[in-house]
Amino acid sequence: MPIGVFDSGMGGLTVLAALQQRLPNESFLYLGDTARLPYGTKSPATVQRYAEQAAALLLQRGVKAVVVACNTASGLALAHLQTKLAPVPVFGVVEPGAEAAAAAAEAAPVLVVATESTVRGGAYQRALLQRNPGLQVYARACPLWVTLAEQGPGEAPLIPHVLEHDLRGFLNGPAPVQTLLLGCTHFPVFAATLRQRYPQVTVVDSASTTAAQVQTQLQALGLLDNDDKASQVHFLATDGGDRFRRVGSYFLGHAVPAVEVVDLAG
Ligand code: DGL
Repeated sequence: MPIGVFDSGMGGLTVLAALQQRLPNESFLYLGDTARLPYGTKSPATVQRYAEQAAALLLQRGVKAVVVACNTASGLALAHLQTKLAPVPVFGVVEPGAEAAAAAAEAAPVLVVATESTVRGGAYQRALLQRNPGLQVYARACPLWVTLAEQGPGEAPLIPHVLEHDLRGFLNGPAPVQTLLLGCTHFPVFAATLRQRYPQVTVVDSASTTAAQVQTQLQALGLLDNDDKASQVHFLATDGGDRFRRVGSYFLGHAVPAVEVVDLAG
């Protein structure tokens, strides 16, 4: 059985890439709810409903576990999904992201960049302070980054300007941020630009720590596929299959072969 992975759009492909790298024998079913993106500006009730519908479709298709590859849905709906889908294991990206940032930050200030709903929900701030109560944590909503990322590499010349606009004031001044946590799965496509422009800052995201957690827990549950067979990945989107195929490779790092368009709300 494959592992189900979902996001509001293509951002979760950055998590899928890390999962594929860590679990090369596993098959995956990825769902991008492109018809309803962005989730990051929606209310908690709406995000919960969308997340529930996405997870239900993955379960209907026969997945053995679900990875919520969206920080907004993880922050607002993870506990709900875990209860609803039990005993199927459900993994989020917020705790692994906080783990990576807390380890990188030690005692220096951290800035979480995320969607409006993730920042307002406060899941990252709580997860970081739980790990280190003395940590100085800032959070900044960067909704434009989602739109820009979903445009693909075509809008690359705009990227440094938008990043700089939103980070202004956090990276210099009396207590500059030293760790930047990309608290949205769309944002790793900007990691190279961020590292190049702000070499003094450590840029972290939740993709590889999430993949490590999924591996450890599925192993403990005896759910990992140890056969040496070719793994398969099937892609679903709720709108724009061609566009998903075209732009998806920007997030995934390799080609998206085919996309099946599905209806979640119906
Ligand atoms: N990729 C989603 C996240 O990690 C958010 C994008 C959106 O606003 O839908 O939060």
